[in-house]
Amino acid sequence: MAGPKNLPEPASITEERRETFRRDVMRTFARYAPFYNLVEVVLPFVRPNPRILVAETVDAEARSILDACTGNGAVLAAIARRRPAASVFGLDLSPEMLSLATRRIQREGLTNAQIHTGDCTRMPFEDETFDAVTGSYGLHEMPSDIRRAAVSEAFRVLRSGGRLVVIDWDEPHRFIERPVAAARKAVEPDWIGELFGDGLPELVRGAGFEDVTSRRDIFLSQLVTGIKPGWVGRPEHCIPREDT
Ligand SMILES: C[S@@+](CC[C@H](N)C(=O)[O-])C[C@H]1O[C@@H](n2cnc3c(N)ncnc32)[C@H](O)[C@@H]1O
Repeated sequence: MAGPKNLPEPASITEERRETFRRDVMRTFARYAPFYNLVEVVLPFVRPNPRILVAETVDAEARSILDACTGNGAVLAAIARRRPAASVFGLDLSPEMLSLATRRIQREGLTNAQIHTGDCTRMPFEDETFDAVTGSYGLHEMPSDIRRAAVSEAFRVLRSGGRLVVIDWDEPHRFIERPVAAARKAVEPDWIGELFGDGLPELVRGAGFEDVTSRRDIFLSQLVTGIKPGWVGRPEHCIPREDT
């Protein structure tokens, strides 16, 4: 049996810092929400479709799945449709975005999907609750300390052996992506470059995930996965699993 490994310390941020960020996000997405679904007009032409890719990357056996920063619930719905036997939870701070998500799951009659209001840096869930956690274009909204705290929280709420699946902005991979990248620069925060290339996989690895993979053949985006290793607890009371 393998001995216990040390977990990285979870990223910590002050309550004041968290609150300032929360207010910024809520203000920003109250403004964006009325227009946010316009992205649905463009996305069907993007191949591969980023949201479908996230949904398809979730393990077929996962029964309890969290979509963090669910926003308009497009990924939440894509997972709930593909995994009717699973319970799928969407978490987001913005009431206006969550009302888009609520309308979507009602319209599609997805009784296995539910919405929660909350902060991804302090998730309202017990340790090791979910078999899979997904995140689609949420991390780039966060400055680095908040972003690290959010990935640490995803690690905490995932069960050992569970998979994190995140997609977010990347640098242009092909010439035709460059004009869109230039337009993106005008609307997205300066720090998004920290996620490009090795940035996102390193962030996931830094939170303690193993077997980290990266896929970059996606329009201006990168899909990263990681597995929470097969042990439980913090280093001082680490209990190796029987099968590790
Ligand atoms: C660009 S939208 C992405 C929405 C959706 N996942 C998608 O793929 O279209 C980012 C979302 O992240 C949410 N968000 C950002 N920071 C958050 C936090 N700390 N906790 C919860 N939600 C957060 C915002 O409210 C917003 O709905």
